[in-house]
Amino acid sequence: MPQIAVGVVGATGLVGEMTLQQLAERAFPVGDLRLFASSRSRGQTLTWSGQHFTVETIREGSFSDCQLVFCCAGTDISRQVVPQAVAEGAVVVDKSNAFRLQEGVPLVVPEVNSHHLAGHRGIIANPNCTTIQLAVALSPLARAVGLARVVVSTYQSVSGSGRQAVQELVRGSQQVLAGQTADAAVYPHPIAFNLLPHIDGFDDEGFSGEERKLMTETQKILSLPALPLAATAVRVPLFYGHGISVMVETGETVTPEQVRQLMAGQEGLQVVDQVEQLQYPMPVNAAGQDQVLVGRIRKDESFDRVLHFWVVADNLRKGAATNAVQIAEALLSTWE
Ligand SMILES: NC(=O)c1ccc[n+]([C@@H]2O[C@H](COP(=O)([O-])OP(=O)(O)OC[C@H]3O[C@@H](n4cnc5c(N)ncnc54)[C@H](OP(=O)(O)O)[C@@H]3O)[C@@H](O)[C@H]2O)c1
Repeated sequence: MPQIAVGVVGATGLVGEMTLQQLAERAFPVGDLRLFASSRSRGQTLTWSGQHFTVETIREGSFSDCQLVFCCAGTDISRQVVPQAVAEGAVVVDKSNAFRLQEGVPLVVPEVNSHHLAGHRGIIANPNCTTIQLAVALSPLARAVGLARVVVSTYQSVSGSGRQAVQELVRGSQQVLAGQTADAAVYPHPIAFNLLPHIDGFDDEGFSGEERKLMTETQKILSLPALPLAATAVRVPLFYGHGISVMVETGETVTPEQVRQLMAGQEGLQVVDQVEQLQYPMPVNAAGQDQVLVGRIRKDESFDRVLHFWVVADNLRKGAATNAVQIAEALLSTWE
């Protein structure tokens, strides 16, 4: 197998660190490796697969020796860096929101729509963390019985906002337990012992940016641009893992047992649904693994063709790094 020259932008962040871990765990054929971050981290040494690498800042020509670049540094950085990397000859898997809805940029969850990779123009977008786990869970229903309407509420951990947010929850929890008021810097209000129904800015219709991403990205991935979909996104005081409560109106009538069977056949999705044995998906079970977990599958008693279920995944692994490395693996299979 050919060795690939890889660059990781944002290598010192939560997603960059997990991307490096995934490249090693999944034995991706990394040849040369270049690590980039901000000037705050320039010169820092990171260890990967027993070798030491010095963190660099990005300059003209930084990517001219990279075949594949994972960009994990945020939307503003991606807007500058991704076009540069493509112009310098690399294919970029971008984890930010910058290009996800752009025409000609595939937005890919490999188990769901890897066929969208064909004809890419150098940029492949990695969806938002909650979108990925929702798309994996909805995909078997969309294929088998159709989707008429979807309504979701998310319960999203602080690691979804990066390293500083994790530190803010640690600090805020200590402050509250010491009888003080938790401070807030990353978030507009304290997150410790609180719930924030606010992720990204609000638009004129009252939806938050995170809610819009979940709605529009899911439509693009499932190739259902007119799918009625409404979301409420909530940040919860949890370190790792995102949960989603999902209400689906299907195109055809389907029983919960049929849904379990359909979902059990979906690659990347694991049904954990034995409530009598207290078995249901929880962030503590999802953390550290790459499967999306689904359970609490039940029929609505008021509306025909309406089902409810609960989906959990590790936001840093399948919600970000694992999905990006899986995209790279799918690309690689077309390069050989
Ligand atoms: N966290 C998640 O669950 C998740 C899931 C899906 C997608 N994402 C997306 O992934 C991206 C990274 O998120 P994160 O959670 O890893 O954030 P993070 O922990 O805050 O890390 C941000 C990274 O970006 C680097 N950076 C900042 N300014 C830079 C610059 N001018 N040039 C190069 N690198 C720069 C930082 O370097 P320094 O250390 O030097 O500051 C750090 O390595 C974001 O676009 C986010 O939306 C995150």
